[in-house]
Amino acid sequence: MKKLWAVLLVLALTGSAAFAKGGAAGKSSGGVTKGMDRKIVLGYSQSGAESEWRTACTNSVKAAAEEYNIELVFTDAQQKQENQLKAIRSFITRKVDIIAFTPVVSSGWEAVLQECKDAKIPVICVDRTIDGPDTLFTAFIGSDFKKEGVMSADWLVAYMEKIGRGSKDPLNVVELQGTVGAAAATDRQIGFMEVLAKYPNYKVIKTQTGNFTRAEGKQVMEAFLKSDGDQIDVLFAHNDDMAIGAIQAIEEYGRKPGEDIIIVSIDAVKGAFEAMMAGTLNASIECNPLLGPPVMETAVKILKGESVPKKVYSVDNTFDQSNAAAAFPTRKY
Ligand code: AHR
Repeated sequence: MKKLWAVLLVLALTGSAAFAKGGAAGKSSGGVTKGMDRKIVLGYSQSGAESEWRTACTNSVKAAAEEYNIELVFTDAQQKQENQLKAIRSFITRKVDIIAFTPVVSSGWEAVLQECKDAKIPVICVDRTIDGPDTLFTAFIGSDFKKEGVMSADWLVAYMEKIGRGSKDPLNVVELQGTVGAAAATDRQIGFMEVLAKYPNYKVIKTQTGNFTRAEGKQVMEAFLKSDGDQIDVLFAHNDDMAIGAIQAIEEYGRKPGEDIIIVSIDAVKGAFEAMMAGTLNASIECNPLLGPPVMETAVKILKGESVPKKVYSVDNTFDQSNAAAAFPTRKY
């Protein structure tokens, strides 16, 4: 009898856990979506949870869905394209009203996006772009990654000039790349290199992916320091998390981040502001993760048959040690 009760208890617990999971994935509380005469369902495939920026982006999407009373079917692809393909196909089967997704990598979407088209489900690309024709999706909302690379290099060149290590000194740069094949990594590198090409004294001596994570940023920086140690003048990291990991590696190696090695990264998350105020990070170029409200607003417009711009880019700013402390109290992520 005791055994029977134990089995029943386990069944009851696992059953309610599964129910809770389903509830979180597709929250539905009745009423109508803001600006619509019915409640709409939006399937969203997030690329992962690799960085402070990504967490802010996910939180923004979830909060905005609540605000608009949109039923959000949220999935986390854990940085794997195959998981995103599965998620998008499950949204089609479920007949959601609209799909939004942040492509882990930029290639390989033609077939699944054609399936969305055939099913007459509009698609919004969030944060990252895809290769191929613009006709594969209805709208893109995010940052201009190439411009962020250009802004990083522009800041670097001006700063080196300001501290008297400008155009004549040979400068060795190491680069921590984001996820290979992600638009955020490809385009940031293109923008950065486009500027540096005009300054032959800058030499990129090492470049490797750190997958946008703090742990890998640290690991790869350790390897850079092992091979090139005292020769490194500059670190360009494709995001703040990798820069923060690298800062730790540089300190452990015995050099001063922010002084011996000048560091510029991208995102401008709170962790970067703390590092800039502590003097260990020199600059961070903003990449706005608060994409939830524009995504929900665009989804409603599309479903109402209103025209929307094909691409909407965020306005991003440059922060460094000169303005970080003043801006910090107003930062939202
Ligand atoms: O696609 C945006 C990038 O992805 C952010 O810079 C990075 O932090 C994230 O993981």
